[in-house]
This record gives sequence, C-alpha cells and structure tokens, in this order.
Amino acid sequence: MKIAGFGVEAWLNAHEREATTDISQSSIAALTMAEIAALEDQQAPQDFYEELGAARLDYGWIEGSPRFKELVSQLYEQVPAANVLQTNGATGANHLAIYSLVEPGDHVIALYPSYQQLYDIPKSLGATVDYWHIHESAGWLPDIMELQRLIRPETKMILLNNAINPTGSLLDRTLLEQVVTLARSVGAYVLADEVYEPLDETPFVSIADLYERGIAVNSLSKTYSAPGIRIGWTATPSQAIADIFRKYRDYTMICGGVLNDQLAVRILAHRQRVLARNRELVSRNLKILTEWVAQEPRVELITPHGISVSCIKLIVPIDDETFCQQLLRDTGVLLVPGSRFDIPGHARLGYCTDTPTLQRGLDLLGQYLRRFD
Ligand SMILES: Cc1ncc(COP(=O)(O)O)c(C=O)c1O
Repeated sequence: MKIAGFGVEAWLNAHEREATTDISQSSIAALTMAEIAALEDQQAPQDFYEELGAARLDYGWIEGSPRFKELVSQLYEQVPAANVLQTNGATGANHLAIYSLVEPGDHVIALYPSYQQLYDIPKSLGATVDYWHIHESAGWLPDIMELQRLIRPETKMILLNNAINPTGSLLDRTLLEQVVTLARSVGAYVLADEVYEPLDETPFVSIADLYERGIAVNSLSKTYSAPGIRIGWTATPSQAIADIFRKYRDYTMICGGVLNDQLAVRILAHRQRVLARNRELVSRNLKILTEWVAQEPRVELITPHGISVSCIKLIVPIDDETFCQQLLRDTGVLLVPGSRFDIPGHARLGYCTDTPTLQRGLDLLGQYLRRFD
C-alpha cells in the first residue's frame, strides 16, 4: 500500500523544535496538567494526582469509559452513547472510519484542499478520489453545483473537514443540508472531521445531527486544547455504522488508555470552562491578527470566524516554501507553507498560541516582509 507524504506533518516534524517563535500550529494554546487539575472546584489538585496515581493501568474501558461516551453523546442530538467510539485522536478516528468503509475501486469525494488524511488514505486504499474544491474567491468555500457534478450513483463516501484546516472557513447548515440531500440520493456516507469548532457566535451543526449516514469525527486536540492526551472519537446516529467500526477498531487500537480517558473525561465534564478560556484567547488573538493584517501591505486574509486556524496570502516575489524556510532561518518564526496544503502563495498562521508569542511572531514577520519592499 503506497501513500503520499503528509505535507503539513512532515514540515512540522522537521521544523517545530528549531522554531523560537512558533505561529504555525492549529491547536489553541495547550492546557497544562496543572490547569486540568484545577478545572474541578470541589477537588484539590493533590486529590487529582492521587486519583491518577491510584489508576490501574490495565486496558481500561475498551470503547472509552461510560462517562466519556455519555459526555461525548451530549455534544450531539442524534448520537446515543452506544454509538460513540473512542479513538487515538481525530487522526485515529478518520483512519478508522475510512479503513472500515472504503474499499479498492470505490468512488469517494473529498473536500479539497483540506486535511490531507481525508483524501490520501482513501487513495492509498485503492479508491478513486474526486476533489470538491474550495475557492478563495468564495471565502474558501466549495460550490454545491460542483458536488452535484461529481457525485455518482456508486459514490461511497463524501469526506468533509468542517471547519476547514488551514483556511478556517465553515460549511454552514444550509450547505451541509444540500450535501446531505445529494449524499442521501445515492446512499453515500458523509464523514466530517469537526475538530475545529467556531468559538464565536457563528452557529455550528454536526453532520451526525443532520444525516442518518453521517459520521462525525472529533477530538480533544483543537477546540479543547489537549492534543497531548491523544483522545478522539467517532460519533454516528447509526448503530450499524458503529458496529462496523467496532470490528475494525479491535484490530487497530484496542483502547485509548486509562489515564488518557480520565483526563478526557475531566476536560469534557468542564467543557464550558475550557471553551470560555479558549473563546477569550481566540477573540483576543484574532483581533491582534486582523489589526496587523490591516496595516501589512504584503499579507491578505479571509478572516476565520472564531476558528483557530488562518490562511494568509503572501504578496512576495518568492515561493511560499522558500519564504517560510528563510523566515525560520533568519528570524526563528515558524509558519506552514501553503504548498504543504496544496495552496501555494499562502501560509498557515496559527494565531491561537499564547498572546505574547503571537505578538512577537507578527512583529518579526512584519520586519521580515520589509525586505521585499
Ligand atoms: C482537520 C484535522 N483533523 C485532525 C487533526 C489531528 O487531530 P488529533 O490530534 O486529534 O489526531 C488535525 C491536526 O492538525 C486537523 O487539522
């Protein structure tokens, strides 16, 4: 089985440790263990560590603890706890869903460019993948008429990333309902990787609440600021789909880990508190970013609505990969070249790091851009 290199991951693996000012990442400033310990008012932090210390490291709950499944189920209207399966992050969830359902020769349609897993894993399994393109001229959104032209009677799955990495654009309810109508007409599954949720007042609806063959993928990594615990999930209204996943999951992961589950439960149980922290950070940092862009003639931005990734257009006479390499070498500032997402001439700017790092990064980036004046 052959697979293309994962553009963004390969870039980050090579460079993130050498950066001194990292404004490339897609997560919202990660929680520390101490912050997670302090989420519970009723419990002193030492009790939290004692609880972790007493945990027996057997396999634990294979599908995720009942409390985890219940807390995840509460995020949806149509997903019973029984249909929630814990995975190794959203990457594990995407892999599980695609590996379980896509076969050689199948036809699938993937939103493109977006998260590379969503098209290159189906390709590696021998599926024919058509791209449903997003367009910068349309605010980084796709056109439903193009999906209508791509869909076939035998289309097996439509793969979405909502909101979209790296553009931060969001498919709203109306557009999703149109996707569902098309998918239903041919019986296709719709998988939506929903790790980025808007943290302003922009309404968000999960595919799992719109479509009986919908598969929502999510994790604690982005909206909930805990990529290090490696916990994600698949959620679907369909018991039949969950049962297919169960079978494949036994071969690929067994369980998510006792301590990871415990931390995930704590974060989800205090979800509102974590979201309030992150809303504040996203809105503060987004304001800093948009004000900076407004006075920077060599950068353009389609502003994300409370979503923790952004994609800037670089108005410079060199290609984005060279630009990002030289920027890192000369200033220590890390971006992700847009080419790593098949969006040349752009870069992913992760503005949801801590605010002083963002400010320093934008200052240095601004100074660097003056070289091209
Ligand atoms: C769309 C998308 N899905 C999944 C992931 C990875 O999520 P996890 O850390 O939960 O595996 C990322 C990380 O960048 C992402 O952008």
